[in-house]
Amino acid sequence: MKFYLLGYPVGHSVSPPMHNAAFKELGMPHDYSSLGVEPSRLAYTIKAKIKVDEFGGASVTIPHKIEMLRLVDELDGSAERAGAVNTLQWKDGVLTGYNTDATGGVKALIESYGDISQAKTILLGAGGAANALAAQLAPRVKELTILNRTVEKARALAERIGTNSGSIIYDQALIESADIIVNATPVGMHPNVGASPIDKRHLHEGQMVFDIVYNPLKTQIMLDVEEAGGRSLGGLWMLVYQGVEAFEIWTGVRPSAQTMYDAAKKALLERH
Ligand SMILES: NC(=O)c1ccc[n+]([C@@H]2O[C@H](COP(=O)([O-])OP(=O)(O)OC[C@H]3O[C@@H](n4cnc5c(N)ncnc54)[C@H](OP(=O)(O)O)[C@@H]3O)[C@@H](O)[C@H]2O)c1
Repeated sequence: MKFYLLGYPVGHSVSPPMHNAAFKELGMPHDYSSLGVEPSRLAYTIKAKIKVDEFGGASVTIPHKIEMLRLVDELDGSAERAGAVNTLQWKDGVLTGYNTDATGGVKALIESYGDISQAKTILLGAGGAANALAAQLAPRVKELTILNRTVEKARALAERIGTNSGSIIYDQALIESADIIVNATPVGMHPNVGASPIDKRHLHEGQMVFDIVYNPLKTQIMLDVEEAGGRSLGGLWMLVYQGVEAFEIWTGVRPSAQTMYDAAKKALLERH
């Protein structure tokens, strides 16, 4: 069967090597490839390439995650809660949209940090990934504050899930009281590798930064918190765990996360 990464542009994504490594290890005769689809052709592509016998499932990425909400036949609760679709399953003539981004991210965070129930947590950003993560994090941490460049968006998200909000520009000092800082903005992503969303003087020992950016593997804010004596986690395990969950939805089999991580990391390092 065929599996795709649907996005635009899709470039040299690490998702094909990551999923193909798991198919190979499990002896499954499937193929996962990138499919760049312009937004204006998304509905046509679903008819022509997705709702066909040989299609098994897809990952959905920028800019299609929100539009996909109205193009699927059914929405799983995970996609409803996240307000976006990142995984498609085609089964028995029904196209279902799921979201595995946030559960993957929270799993990666808990594996690295441990018990997060007493952690004062700051989430930077109020875009697609932040929306999905906020809904998963809010009930699990002690306190969640959403800081965003456009403060109205932080406020709207905070109101939706019942947490606190503020401005990433004016409220950086709040960071000092946080146990966990989650960066869900693209600041620091390749090629702007020297950039950080937070002034490093607000970071200190005992804190953990979870940056969901995975290219580079270690972003500036991660380097800064480590220099201050804290810990960091990059976004690659989140990518892997959302992929593990998607793979299980598609095949009913749980693949090796380590195999997928190794393949994704190798592909990422080969890019540069
Ligand atoms: N590891 C993973 O599996 C994974 C999964 C999903 C996404 N990601 C990564 O997460 C990042 C965000 O993705 P997304 O889909 O949520 O994007 P998005 O919907 O475009 O949201 C981007 C957010 O970042 C903020 N932002 C953008 N540029 C900024 C800047 N220069 N300074 C301060 N804030 C800025 C935006 O603020 P405004 O509201 O003010 O515009 C917005 O809140 C991307 O780097 C993406 O690659 C990783």
